[in-house]
Amino acid sequence: MCNEMVYDENWASVYDRYTSIRGRIDEVEDAVSFLYRLSKVGRALELGVGGGRVAVPLSERGVIVEGIDKSDSMLKLLAKRSGSVKSWNGDIACFSKQQRYSLVYCVYNTFTMLFTREAQLDCLRSAAEALDDEGNLVIEIAVPNLDGFVHGQKTSTILLDHENTILMAEIHDSIKQNIVSTLLWFSGTSVRRLPHHIRYVYHQELDTMAEYVGLKLAERWEDWAGGAFSESSKRHISVYRRR
Ligand SMILES: C[S@@+](CC[C@H](N)C(=O)[O-])C[C@H]1O[C@@H](n2cnc3c(N)ncnc32)[C@H](O)[C@@H]1O
Repeated sequence: MCNEMVYDENWASVYDRYTSIRGRIDEVEDAVSFLYRLSKVGRALELGVGGGRVAVPLSERGVIVEGIDKSDSMLKLLAKRSGSVKSWNGDIACFSKQQRYSLVYCVYNTFTMLFTREAQLDCLRSAAEALDDEGNLVIEIAVPNLDGFVHGQKTSTILLDHENTILMAEIHDSIKQNIVSTLLWFSGTSVRRLPHHIRYVYHQELDTMAEYVGLKLAERWEDWAGGAFSESSKRHISVYRRR
């Protein structure tokens, strides 16, 4: 089943600034070191490669990195940044590759952008098939946080400074485990409306889905620096291998 919540031109135009505000540029070096270790300096595939925030520096360390994304706007950003990552337009929920990889990875909550359970399972199945015998699948996702929802709705402030006001309005559908949100970014006299749609998963459900497609949890951390995963962790980085 193909399912998508891809980033349009509007998202692509602010992506680098947004990730910087969210602290995602500062942690790239740790993420790349983590992925480099698991790649065994072989061949890696990024699911939802976007503008190459992680893929490009990983390729600069000598790993052959390829990437899939469904957004032409994000792939244009990647092409502008570097020619070192081979990429193509495809759906991470249903891809099939002849090539086998020592590392397949899906970071920054991209996995949850597949907003049905079937699409998430399909993605895990495709990823498992793309791994070589000793290969590692790495998934980085947030621990679901449903605090602050009232009648299924929540509005929060992401950033307030003298140039920007960034607000997030979210709607929760507990039956589908979906959160549909809109980021409202006021800057000067302009306002951007950036949509998002996810299906959140708890780590135990992710492990069960992975087991269903023949994978087994090998490692779990709370951040790229290797902090221990605990009940206060806000996200997890999970590593799976073939059973
Ligand atoms: C949060 S961004 C992450 C980009 C990049 N991995 C990074 O860490 O900066 C998610 C990316 O996944 C892409 N994406 C979302 N759903 C997808 C799908 N079903 N198939 C392919 N790409 C998808 C989006 O277009 C976007 O570029």
